[in-house]
Amino acid sequence: MSRFPEHFLWGASSSAFQIEGGYDEGGKGLSVADINSFKRSDKQADTRTAADFYHHYREDIALMKELGMQMYRFSFAWSRIIPDGDGEVNPEGLAFYREVVRLLKENGIEPFVTLYHFDLPYALAEKYNGWEDRRCVYAFERYARVCFEEFRDSVKYWQVINEQNLMIRVDERMNIREPDALKADRMRAQMDYHMFLAHALAVKACHEIVPDGKIGPAVSSTCTYPLTNKPKDVWAARMNDYMKTVYCLDMHCYGEYSGIYMRYLRERDIVPVMEAGDPEILKYGKPDYIALNYYRTLCASYLPADAEHPLGSRVYRGNEVDFDQYGYCRDEKNTNLSASEYGAQIDPMGLRIVLNDYWSRYRLPLLITENGLGTADVLTEDGRIHDDYRIDYLRQHIEACALAVEDGVDLFGYSPWSFMDLLSSHQGFRKRYGFVYVDRGEHDVKECERIRKDSYYWYQKVIASNGEKL
Ligand code: BG6
Repeated sequence: MSRFPEHFLWGASSSAFQIEGGYDEGGKGLSVADINSFKRSDKQADTRTAADFYHHYREDIALMKELGMQMYRFSFAWSRIIPDGDGEVNPEGLAFYREVVRLLKENGIEPFVTLYHFDLPYALAEKYNGWEDRRCVYAFERYARVCFEEFRDSVKYWQVINEQNLMIRVDERMNIREPDALKADRMRAQMDYHMFLAHALAVKACHEIVPDGKIGPAVSSTCTYPLTNKPKDVWAARMNDYMKTVYCLDMHCYGEYSGIYMRYLRERDIVPVMEAGDPEILKYGKPDYIALNYYRTLCASYLPADAEHPLGSRVYRGNEVDFDQYGYCRDEKNTNLSASEYGAQIDPMGLRIVLNDYWSRYRLPLLITENGLGTADVLTEDGRIHDDYRIDYLRQHIEACALAVEDGVDLFGYSPWSFMDLLSSHQGFRKRYGFVYVDRGEHDVKECERIRKDSYYWYQKVIASNGEKL
């Protein structure tokens, strides 16, 4: 008897700009993710080739089938389907995804499609400064409707936005170039609010168009420990979770910002412009499930509002996803945990905590759409990749999932990051997460040959045994 439910979905994940390549082929327009990656091209790989899925997808889907995957979580590139974001639909873009979806289904793999994974069409950033302008909300709604109409019979599971709560914190992903920290934060709060509206309109459209369609957000989950058991540190840890993830899930599930978050927006004087009629739109946004991405945990202490700070600004963000917030919390290192070579503090227990936490707060089915270890894997002389450290990481996290299921959490799938090696969100190709090795360097793309890692064979057994053979 497995500890996982009978129809538990085992899968693996990816996103368009990180795997596809073909960045200007088949009529695709540029995205913000393309432009950001080009800025780093002198030092590392960019989106031009990435893992070259655009030319290898048949082979990749055959490898997914052989792995035994029951679901594949990937994204459509908005700028492949509507190159300038809100103009003509590109038939070649739709045809590419039609073929990918057809092959997945033919191989018994359920497609889980994310509509937007960090890759806003660059034309929208140029025309409207992207999400700052309400027109971007309607452009997204139209794009979502185009996808739902096209795939209404073939794709049942949709994710609206990948990690809105993390993306909003990174200036370059939002195309925020405002040097004044307060003005930048006001713009950020407006963009965030517009994405919530876009999310809600997409949920509504999915429910109208896709028969039996299921749709939800994919959030970056957060579990913050207090540095000490001083009540203020405990509060600081709660606030870090709140400001990073819970405010976002609250908005999705209840259609409004909670009191604590409104207080934060008011205190900072960054309350977004909201229009009459918005509350009704936001109420549509209630998801059918919550997908969460989990990599690590955080630690915080209390940081008084009047504490000394180096830059003379109450909020220091830089381009980091975790930062100090005066009056709330200071980001701390947890000395009880070890970290990956890229600094992620590894903590399977945190996953059990997060799953229980979100289940008890929202009572919505949960799905893990990202979890994994990014390392510089080595292709050894025997032509193999002996990534026992990845097996170890995944084993411990799957064990945490099993415990959460036993705790009573309705977890219906596990789809780690990533199916194959891909372009890291900002750290090139050296940082690898995949079950399948893609043989390319940062600049020398070679043939992008696919090689099964040791973790591939291990995960194959995990799937075949429904999580029993860890
Ligand atoms: C998640 C993103 O935040 O983390 C992925 O959804 C990303 O796109 C993943 O690749 C791992 O982060 P990184 O920076 O190591 O690629």
